[in-house]
Amino acid sequence: MGKTIRIGLLGFGTVGSGVARVLRENAHEIEKKVGAPVEIKSVLVRDTKKKRQYMEGLHATDSIDEIINDKEIDIVVELMGGMSPAHDYMICALKAGKHVVTANKDVLAESARDIFDTAKEHHVEFMFEASVGGGIPIITPLKECLTANRISEVVGIVNGTTNYMLTKMTECGASYDAVLKEAQEKGYAEANPSADVEGLDAARKAAILASLAFNTRVSLENVAVEGITHITPEDIDYATQLGYVIKLLAIARDTPENGVDVRVHPAFLPKEHPLASVNGVYNAIYVKGNAIGEAMFYGQGAGSLPTASAVIADIVSVSRDIERGIFRGIGCTCFETKKFCPVAKTESDYYIRLLVADEPGVLGKIATTFGDQGVSLKSVIQTRVVDDNAEIVVITHHVKHERIDKAERALTDLPVVTKISNVIRVERTVV
Ligand code: NAP
Ligand code: HSE
Repeated sequence: MGKTIRIGLLGFGTVGSGVARVLRENAHEIEKKVGAPVEIKSVLVRDTKKKRQYMEGLHATDSIDEIINDKEIDIVVELMGGMSPAHDYMICALKAGKHVVTANKDVLAESARDIFDTAKEHHVEFMFEASVGGGIPIITPLKECLTANRISEVVGIVNGTTNYMLTKMTECGASYDAVLKEAQEKGYAEANPSADVEGLDAARKAAILASLAFNTRVSLENVAVEGITHITPEDIDYATQLGYVIKLLAIARDTPENGVDVRVHPAFLPKEHPLASVNGVYNAIYVKGNAIGEAMFYGQGAGSLPTASAVIADIVSVSRDIERGIFRGIGCTCFETKKFCPVAKTESDYYIRLLVADEPGVLGKIATTFGDQGVSLKSVIQTRVVDDNAEIVVITHHVKHERIDKAERALTDLPVVTKISNVIRVERTVV
């Protein structure tokens, strides 16, 4: 057996404690797989006095310098989250010649270039499998296993919290607030859950996936984002009645005509669609490549042990290289600069729910207004009366987003329209 590989763990929350637990419980197998023991030497936390499960026998410190200056530490594993100080700590670790493993999508999606550059300059690895899809292997497949392909589409459910919430709201009619609380208690949600429900967490993951899939740098600012905060029980009921489920999707497409289109938004999915049956905290990511065709990756997208599984996969990969004295240094794979497709030019079917005056001739006026903006209607239903208004649900044919925007403005100006309650895209095909 080789010499012990030592880890400096930054953070001991949901994921950090899971990493400590799995490294301890599976120590024997991991040692055999690496060819050397892998141990946590020090753990950085804010409060070193706090009692923590799975911390027994580990040294806690609140000094990052203690870890950076410790010559025995080979790998720094960053599991604090957020931009600052995580970004700077990772840069310091790389400059000190330590390999870095992280689950931090904030840093990856917003400020990764200097990290890749620093890792390359100092001949150390920078790995981030757990940053997307929790326990699902998706970063390594995109960076290594699918390199033969020109990838044209990546479509996925990549946020466990919102998928858990939408599933519970659909299956049990649970309230938004109750299911958000449950997701937080289970350790799925971010420290600030608005990142989950407003779509930012999924948008960061979409940026990371698109960068790897299309070999061009995609940052959070390049992703059009819409969360689930405006999804109501009424929308969920209509989706069910019409044969759909509502999912928060991350969609990344690269087409020669339009360029790179990356967006996160809720969407109606037909019940028979493969992503429609991805429920609870499970995530799934479809990839379409010109050699492999379609591939799907599925598993638990959040939680202590599933995420620890992905973090430890990176630790094992780096440890094997240390043990064998090799440095693969795949590094950054964004070697192209592609143009982005504006949201206005993206196309979809749409669900539109509106309250209108309950009087003769109204449907005709609505249909004419849609028609004037070049929006063709697939179906119109009217099932309820709300405060003396008729509630109408319209499903459109495939149309550019800019036409829907114009139709919304024109409808708002119609005296018979009381309110446009919601507009949600309807995804027909994944790949
Ligand atoms: P968490 O439960 O909030 O834990 C964060 C840990 O970092 C805590 O132990 C905290 O110390 C420590 N910490 C934070 N700021 C620090 C600072 N300035 N100095 C020292 N220690 C600091 O977070 P988590 O859920 O484990 O998430 C960790 C990372 O994994 C994030 O990047 C997250 O996005 C990512 N991730 C999470 C999941 C998931 O299911 N939770 C899944 C995939 C990826 P104290 O305990 O002393 O406060
Ligand atoms: N808050 C994230 C989610 C954790 O719910 O998917 C995993 O990144």
